Amino acid sequence: MKNYGWNFILLSLLSGIAACSPQPTKDVPQEFKKGQEHFHRVCSNCHGSDAMGMETKAPRLIDTDYIEKAFSNDELRETILNGTDKMPPQKNNVSPNEITEIIKYLRYSQKTANLVTEDETQEEDEDEESVDEEKEGA
Ligand code: HEC
Repeated sequence: MKNYGWNFILLSLLSGIAACSPQPTKDVPQEFKKGQEHFHRVCSNCHGSDAMGMETKAPRLIDTDYIEKAFSNDELRETILNGTDKMPPQKNNVSPNEITEIIKYLRYSQKTANLVTEDETQEEDEDEESVDEEKEGA
């Protein structure tokens, strides 16, 4: 009986903590864990846990609008440092190195969400072929 009581208290404590701030729901490989931690410390309040967005606050970053082709690493860094009209600058909250980790984590999350297709990653190898095809078409 005593054990059961303690488990109950622990469970309530844990769910209490989870309710306070967005928690990472995704288990990422070790090399992306730092970026995930920084993201949850600095960005999640607005962009949501795992960058899936918060309806009222900020856009979802796991989106084709923000994959590397659409929104480069430099643009990401610039946005984080200086913000936009609606997003406050974060340069006092993250170091340059932490930003690098956050970008790595975001790119990984975008890949695992299948936003970057196989075609896109293979494109470089196929470039020559497609150029030829375009010429023939013209
Ligand atoms: C205080 C809330 C807040 C925090 C903290 C915040 N953002 Fe934002 N972010 C926003 C809002 C609001 C927008 C939408 C801005 C707009 O439409 O101009 C935004 C937009 C963005 C964009 C898209 C910009 C564009 O031009 O489309 C990126 C990328 C981004 N945030 C990344 C981050 C990252 C990474 C962090 C953490 C280092 C972060 N944000 C922290 C509120 C926030």
